[in-house]
Formats: sequence, C-alpha cells, structure tokens
Amino acid sequence: MSLLPILHYPDSRLKTIALPVGKIGEDIRTLARDMAETMYAAPGIGLAATQVDVHWRVVVIDVSEARDELRVLINPEIVAGEGAQIGEEGCLSVPGIYDKVERAERVTARYLDLDGKEQTVEAEGLLAVCIQHEIDHLDGKVFVDHLSNLKRTRIKAKLAKQARITA
Ligand code: NI
Repeated sequence: MSLLPILHYPDSRLKTIALPVGKIGEDIRTLARDMAETMYAAPGIGLAATQVDVHWRVVVIDVSEARDELRVLINPEIVAGEGAQIGEEGCLSVPGIYDKVERAERVTARYLDLDGKEQTVEAEGLLAVCIQHEIDHLDGKVFVDHLSNLKRTRIKAKLAKQARITA
C-alpha cells in the first residue's frame, strides 16, 4: 500500500473528466486500497481518483465516526435526488478552505463494488453531500466551482499565499 500525492486546486488536472472503469482488475483494486489509505491518512471523508491524478471513475468514502465503514464506489451515478441542504464543505484538494454549498438532501446512487456487482445506495445528509462532492470530482469539478467568481478569486489568492509560506 502507498500514500498517493493529492493534487491541489487550481491544478488544471483536477478538471479532467474521468473515464468509466471497464474491467475491475488488480490495478483498480490496488488503486482503491491506496486511495483509502490516502484518505484515512489525510484525514478526509472522501477521495476521488481525479484528486490523485488517476482518471478512472473510482471514489472512496467513509463518513463514519469510527472510520470503519469504507465504501468503494466504481462508476458511481446519481439516479435520483430530492430536496436541498446547504452545508459547509471542504476538500483535500483545497486545503484550509471551507464554504457553504447547496446540494440535494437525498440521493440514490448506483455503482459497482470491487467485485463488479451493481449496488444501489440511498443516502441523505453528510453521505449524500459526500457522494455528490466526489462525483463532481470525476466530472472535473471542485466544490469551489459552485461558489461565486469573487469567492473563487479570493480562494486562489489565499491558496497561493499559503503555498508560498509552506514552500
Ligand atoms: Ni474534494
């Protein structure tokens, strides 16, 4: 297992649209394991392959308190959504930045598990937010893309300043 380097906004590689996984082989299983390890180490509650510069539709999520409910979602798709919720979001690719984003309150998502079996999850609250946030990554979107131009400009400036200080 190994920790994977995480791309930081506004890296243009975060805009890549990930490709659907065809065959779930050892490469995808290794990727999912490394992504999970990277997410837990960060620590974060979700990570999309896009964030580690691998452009396959693979997501790992664990929103549990005990950090023992790993979900691996391959080719995830939202098939239904309803309601609205506004929550404070952050992202491992946008370190130290949090802002309010509106999302569907409940979603139904379909995906393949690591055995290639089709699964359906009905999610609400934080899990619903996380699924929407991670699928956004696979489509080349970061949560700050939901904010105003002015906020995005300020965030870029803040991140550039942080990078200078920590470099
Ligand atoms: Ni993120």
